[in-house]
Parts: sequence; C-alpha cells; structure tokens
Amino acid sequence: MNPIKPIFFEEERLFLLDQRKIPLKEEYFECNSFKDTYYAIKEMVARGAPLIGAVAAYGVVLACKEFKDDHKQNFIKNMDYAIKHLAKSRPTAVNLFWALRRMEKVFKSNVDSIDTLENLYTLLINEAHNICYEDLETNYQMARYGVKVVKQKARILTHCNTGALATTGYGTALGVVREAHYVGKDIKVYVDETRPRLQGTKLTSWELQKEQIPFTLIADSVSAVLMKKGYIDLILVGADRIAPNGDVANKIGTYGLSVLAKQFDIPFYVVAPTSTIDLDISCGDDIQIEERKNEEVTNINGVRVAPDNIQVYNPAFDVTPSKNITGIITEVGILGADKNSIREFRRKGD
Ligand code: MRU
Repeated sequence: MNPIKPIFFEEERLFLLDQRKIPLKEEYFECNSFKDTYYAIKEMVARGAPLIGAVAAYGVVLACKEFKDDHKQNFIKNMDYAIKHLAKSRPTAVNLFWALRRMEKVFKSNVDSIDTLENLYTLLINEAHNICYEDLETNYQMARYGVKVVKQKARILTHCNTGALATTGYGTALGVVREAHYVGKDIKVYVDETRPRLQGTKLTSWELQKEQIPFTLIADSVSAVLMKKGYIDLILVGADRIAPNGDVANKIGTYGLSVLAKQFDIPFYVVAPTSTIDLDISCGDDIQIEERKNEEVTNINGVRVAPDNIQVYNPAFDVTPSKNITGIITEVGILGADKNSIREFRRKGD
C-alpha cells in the first residue's frame, strides 16, 4: 500500500533515503560505519523520532562490524564509545536513547557469555531488525486507533513530516491520515510548510502526492486564518518526546498550533508510539530542546537571504502543554494527556 522505503540494511551496510534531497532526487545514502550513521542523524539525512531510533540501532550494528575482530576488551571499550557517540547525535527525540538502550542491553547481556563476537553481531542485527518491524507494526496499530477520531470529509491540519519518512515506513500522524484515506473518509489535508527545514513542503507534500491524498500546502502563518474561517476540523501532529504529565515536545510551531486549536475549539491529537514517552523526566520543562545552525534560518537553499552579522534563534522543537492536547494516539490506545493515563503502561523493551 505504501511504496516509500526510508531505511534498509543489506550486505552489512545501512541505506537511508536521503531526506535532504527529496523531492528533487530520490537517492540512498550509504552508511558503512557507526560514524556514518551519526552523521546521517545529525545532518538529517534521516529524521523523525522513530526513524532516528532505528538508524541509531543500526549504528550499533555497524560499530560491532567494525570492532568485532579486535580483542574482547578493546571491543567492549569501542562499543561503549560508539553508543555514547551515537547518543550525542541529536538531543530531543527520546526514541534515539530508547533504541540505544535496547541495543546496549543485547550487547552487555551477551558479550561475556557468547562464544564468538560474530554471533553477537548476529544478535545485534536481529535486535535492530526487530526495532524496525515493531515500529512498522506500531504505526499500523496507531493508525487503526487514530482513524476513529477522523470524521467523514474531515479537513486535517498537519505539521512537519510524520509519515513513512519519519518512521520505518508508514507514519504516526500521517499514518492516521493514510488510514483515513484508505478507508474512504474523503479527507483533505492542509500541510504546514514547517520553517525553517521545510519538512512539510518537501517531505509531507511528496508523500501525499505519491499516494494521491488530496492536500494543500500552506505557509505556516496561514493556519490561524484557516482555523478562524472554520476550515480545519482536526489537527494531527507527531511527537519527539512525551513527558509523563502529558506535555509534548514536537517540531517548532506545534505549540502555536495547539494554542490556536484551543482558541477555535478544534480537536488537537498527538500521534506517537509509546517509545516516545520518557518516564525518566517529570514534565516538558525537563526536555532538552535542540538548537540548530543559524544558516537554517538565514539561508534558503544554500543562498543567504538575511543580512550578515545578525543574531538568530533557531530551536528545532517546542513543548506543547498537556492542557492543549485532546489525546495521545499510541499503539496501546488513545491516552489522555495526563499523568494517570500515561502511567498505565510501560515503555516497550525496558
Ligand atoms: O527535526 P525533525 O525533522 O527530526 O523533527 C521531526 C518531528 O518533529 C516530527 O514531528 C516527530 O519526530 C514525530 S514524527 C514521527
């Protein structure tokens, strides 16, 4: 049903659909080492919280490939270093740390007892594959729950890219959109351009056009007018990290949309796997927000459009307070954005 393949592992190499080039080119970026995967996450060759987790998992596999012929002690030291290094690639999406913890658990619980490091390599590949398969299954499950909040002929506003490109192949918020389209709800999507990286313009538009799902691309600042005119029935966004009290970090601009949604009484749902919930923090204030390069704001397609020597503030994410969120659509059901609902389940793999 969905032809987009953002990630695959073949012949000991990781291939990532290069999201810096879409929609102009569909090219794969090849990772041969854990440092290549670090680069791919940091430079956003691959992005989106669940996909970042999957890429990091294969980063650990590639580290094992690189170091497994060394003495065990060196191997352990190098693997520890690789995992720590990968954890520094991007700070906000908790799926990165969640996936690294899963991989580290397989590495640490087997390294002493396993007969050869070649066998450990196989175990790590299997765990990385599992993370990918589970993510896909999780996406389908979220879509099945999420489609229930989509009314016939709904006009849906979405932000950033939360589709196949942000996951291992179907999508979180855009997975719900896909599902609603497939089951014949006759929906229409408004796609926020999502400054400054333009994930909406470049990636979400590309995905929706490929699947012939009706959509209109808008500049970020247009959404308020659409809501005021009554043209938006539902807002669906993804998440990079969810605090146990229901606060949600997501792409910069999400918070503003949530305030508008409240103003105009529009349902505002977050769609995210439970691996995006961080049980180690207490609220949104504890979430580290990534600040990216000034050039993302001052330049367009590599050409400087702002004057030289100016100050720029470029946070990649913001935090939406739980009180602005109607519900959180996960693979275990639709949770309330509050402590009690979120406490009811535990992160997979922990
Ligand atoms: O900076 P990005 O492109 O990695 O940010 C992505 C988002 O904010 C998405 O909305 C979020 O990861 C959820 S997508 C499954």
